[in-house]
Amino acid sequence: MPDRILIANWKMNLDFQNSEKLITEVVNQYSKLKSNNYRKIIICPPSIFIENIFQKTLAYPQFEVGSQNLYPGKEGAFTGEISAYMLKSIGCSYTIIGHSERRSYFGETDQTIALKIKAALSENILPILCVGETLSERENSYFRKIIERQLVEGLAHVSEREKQLKKIVIAYEPVWAIGTGKTANPELASEVHSFIREILKKLFGNDISSAISILYGGSVKSSNASELFMQPDINGALVGGASLDAHEFMNIYDKL
Ligand code: PGA
Repeated sequence: MPDRILIANWKMNLDFQNSEKLITEVVNQYSKLKSNNYRKIIICPPSIFIENIFQKTLAYPQFEVGSQNLYPGKEGAFTGEISAYMLKSIGCSYTIIGHSERRSYFGETDQTIALKIKAALSENILPILCVGETLSERENSYFRKIIERQLVEGLAHVSEREKQLKKIVIAYEPVWAIGTGKTANPELASEVHSFIREILKKLFGNDISSAISILYGGSVKSSNASELFMQPDINGALVGGASLDAHEFMNIYDKL
């Protein structure tokens, strides 16, 4: 069975004080929940806040901390970059790779993404690979080809051993739904999630692929979460905007 997971992608928001305030509120809300023992919460703050968020959530086994990016090397003359090796040392256990904002604003290709996934796995950081089509790709109906390419090329360097041992996470995030208020309707999202599961089956085999969590992302809020989470192949969500509001975020968690 895939883990049920909720991810907060804080993107480039908040200063240190407000990040502390937000995580304190999230943890407070979490403590008030009645049934909280199986769904995972991964907080992905800006990298400079990772250590602090890790410390603040350490007492809660369901919480993990992730980065929003990393550089695919260990150490060296790469001014301004942060590696998996460094992130690991401050409590980071997941990393978002190939978010559409990184693909479009920072020119990340499937090849760079594959190297980042390899680098993350080599430090035991679990990658959350984001895939998804743009509006024109959807309108031209070749979105399946795009998603298949993103999966096959992005996962190209995952070794057979890593396939067995590491729990990679996939996030389907249609680009046209991110930060726009337009959510894919649950049936449409579900259809793509099943398609992703089929591709994973080809790449990883039946047993491993059926345990991979496939999350939906794109304008998820408490008002549309239940319907999405009812779909068979939607195992959780990657939440941007709504993760900056502790109450709203934990309301989504409650529905997972
Ligand atoms: P959103 O962002 O929830 O604000 O649409 C999702 C994401 O970019 O991961």
